[in-house]
Amino acid sequence: MTDDSIRIIQTKPFNDQKPGTSGLRKKTRIFEQPHYVENFAQSIFDSLRDSTDFSGEILAIGGDGRYYNRAAIQKIIRIAAANGFRRVLVGRSGFLSTPAMSALIRRRNAMGGILLTASHNPGGANEDFGIKYNIRNGGPAPEGITERIYEQSLKIERYLTLESNDIDLDREGTTILGRTEVSIIDPLQDYTGVLQTLFDFGAMQSLFQSGFRLCFDAMHGITGIYARHIFENLLGAPSGTVIRGEPLEDFGGLHPDPNQLHAAELVRSMSLPNAPDLGAACDGDGDRNMILSRSFFVTPGDSLAVIAQHAAECLPGYRSGLKGVARSMPTSAAVDRVAAKLGIRCHETPTGWKFFGNLMDAGLCTICGEESFGTGSDHVREKDGLWAVLVWLGILAVRRTSVDRLVQDHWRIFGRSYYQRHDYEQLDLKSAGEMIGELREKVGKMTGISMAASRIVQADDFQYTDPVDGSVSLRQGIRIRLADGSRIIGRLSGTGTEGATLRLYFERYMAGGDAPIEPMLQPLIAAAGDLFQLKMRFHRDAPSVIT
Ligand code: G1P
Ligand code: ZN
Repeated sequence: MTDDSIRIIQTKPFNDQKPGTSGLRKKTRIFEQPHYVENFAQSIFDSLRDSTDFSGEILAIGGDGRYYNRAAIQKIIRIAAANGFRRVLVGRSGFLSTPAMSALIRRRNAMGGILLTASHNPGGANEDFGIKYNIRNGGPAPEGITERIYEQSLKIERYLTLESNDIDLDREGTTILGRTEVSIIDPLQDYTGVLQTLFDFGAMQSLFQSGFRLCFDAMHGITGIYARHIFENLLGAPSGTVIRGEPLEDFGGLHPDPNQLHAAELVRSMSLPNAPDLGAACDGDGDRNMILSRSFFVTPGDSLAVIAQHAAECLPGYRSGLKGVARSMPTSAAVDRVAAKLGIRCHETPTGWKFFGNLMDAGLCTICGEESFGTGSDHVREKDGLWAVLVWLGILAVRRTSVDRLVQDHWRIFGRSYYQRHDYEQLDLKSAGEMIGELREKVGKMTGISMAASRIVQADDFQYTDPVDGSVSLRQGIRIRLADGSRIIGRLSGTGTEGATLRLYFERYMAGGDAPIEPMLQPLIAAAGDLFQLKMRFHRDAPSVIT
């Protein structure tokens, strides 16, 4: 094939290709419109072209296997080839988990990668799809770049593609398209290679040999292929350790979101008399994780704190100690207390993984996490669900205790952040925007006011100055801190695809840790109801989801 096959296709801009917290995420039928995927892919390349000549560069492509993954990949391969990349790497069957993409970009020194995923959102013709661009460090594109992509998408007039047969995505091998080598590669290899540098696989094998049992729910997302390979093939866990392990285009019709509601079968199996020792689940694209003990669910904030507490002593990849830790602003302050004890810094960032990347690149942070079931480290630049499960296995392989005991011991030493997130979904977009606008005005004057049997000591709309590049992110969430250390936080989701989603976060700190959560948080929940006027504005009595 020669350059003669390159075609310049005239197109018109779509006005809605603005990436959110985690890429461009919308209903699948929007992506299925003629030219929609093509426009966005070309806008990515056009926004980067000024600074880069693609002829020496590698681009990675892959996704979580949801409906439209394959069709979108065929289009993007052609556009990438027509734009003159030296090499395009595609995970076999179009598969790459989000952390595996990050590992692949870093290990192969790729210029970046295009991920096809809407993460934990349901998949299918009537559900969600997404496209996300990751940069050379393996992490999501920062705001400056996504903003440029959006600007480009508003003025695009043409895209480049080429005429060719579809690539056989299911067979590993290389095809030449134009001047580009398109290689279908094993989606497991690079990622597994990175994990093997961090963990003592021998110690984990011994743990399984001693009769330890894990139940891992892949929720029919992409982690099934990774989990079977790592847990069952490499670590010798019995087959059947991974449930719902087959990636399905519609995730079996369910939300591939690892929380207690959507992983009901796993939650049930953890309460049976002969329950596994550790329960875990990941979301559709493999960056989120949930950890369950036999008697409770480990909140992501506690999981992050326990990991930070034990990593250096239990895991080879972290033996030299942590450079620092980081958490998103709404995430509980449990890890802050561990950082204080370890004598390292804890950075507080806005919601969204992209803010951790700069800290890691600058060597300021080794381990980080978010309340939304995201945990990770500087081995990649995405959160990493399977990594988190391996961390727990690695700690248990050394400590030889139960998950319950590990968490209870943590509470005994550090105290406990009682924590919940309440989501109000599908709110009217305009009223939700107005509500946040009004609160933004109001909070500035609230310091000193009594609330929930305490007093407000800090109230603002969180803003963040990146310590590495000095960039400022404004309006990152209304936060209220009380004199007793409790916090109420409210922000609008940046990943929803229909209407607005309000997230309210509640945190209350107590020494020890055995009280029931609801009564602990009730005064904060009631205060937030009044402050946000949810009933009056939206006629809502209760959240859509509690996690
Ligand atoms: C949500 C989570 C956030 C996470 C993001 C991508 O974003 O809250 O922590 O980084 O999904 O997985 P939100 O919808 O709140 O903007
Ligand atoms: Zn995800």
